[in-house]
Amino acid sequence: MSKKYVIGNWKSNKKGEEVKIWFKKFADKVSRSKKNIFKHHKVVVCPAFVYLERASTLVKKYKLPIEIGAQDISPYDDGPYTGEVSASMIKEFSEYVIIGHSERRQYFGEKDKILFEKAKRAKSVGLNVIYCVPDKVALVPPNVSIVAYEPVWAIGTGKAETPENAAEVAREIKEKTGVSQVIYGGSVTEKNIADFIKQKSLSGVLPGGASLDPEHFFKIVKLSAACLKDSNVEHLNTSR
Ligand code: PGA
Repeated sequence: MSKKYVIGNWKSNKKGEEVKIWFKKFADKVSRSKKNIFKHHKVVVCPAFVYLERASTLVKKYKLPIEIGAQDISPYDDGPYTGEVSASMIKEFSEYVIIGHSERRQYFGEKDKILFEKAKRAKSVGLNVIYCVPDKVALVPPNVSIVAYEPVWAIGTGKAETPENAAEVAREIKEKTGVSQVIYGGSVTEKNIADFIKQKSLSGVLPGGASLDPEHFFKIVKLSAACLKDSNVEHLNTSR
């Protein structure tokens, strides 16, 4: 059985000390939890570039079963590209990278061509690509591990897509792209997590705002775990 993903996107939030506090509080919650909430999950946290190293050190320090992801990547290899963070640099501290988030598309003018280059660089060093698309017609590059369906109107608005629609779009994306794991992002909270996780065609969620508070994020993972335990998890993720 493949596990479901809960991926926290911190965006341009949290400075050094706050990163430390987040991990300390999250680790505290995990150590007090009687159940193994990670049994059916892969939990990934995506801080800003400058804190990737710190976050990966804290994961080791607290022996947390979570992985680290970056929020962006250079479309170029190492070399004379001032300001860029290359795939091989990211790979030193992370296993995942988010590419094509709608905020990158909107505020930094990133288009398919550059996003495809980014995905190529990420794959070349073995990073798992979490490729964000705003709808089912957006192009998806080859070799993407996870597609995140994130309708722009649902991001940071408190108005999530309905779980049923998200599941339907996920099915269509799988059909079209051949990518077997599609997750949903856009105003995911502890209130709606169970309904998203229950959808067989969704392989998880990508919360932004709700991942900033370690207690909320922990709750999301916990509720999701309870939901997976209750349902017939053997069959989850296998239907396309
Ligand atoms: P949100 O962000 O959960 O704050 O809506 C999700 C995202 O942009 O990935």
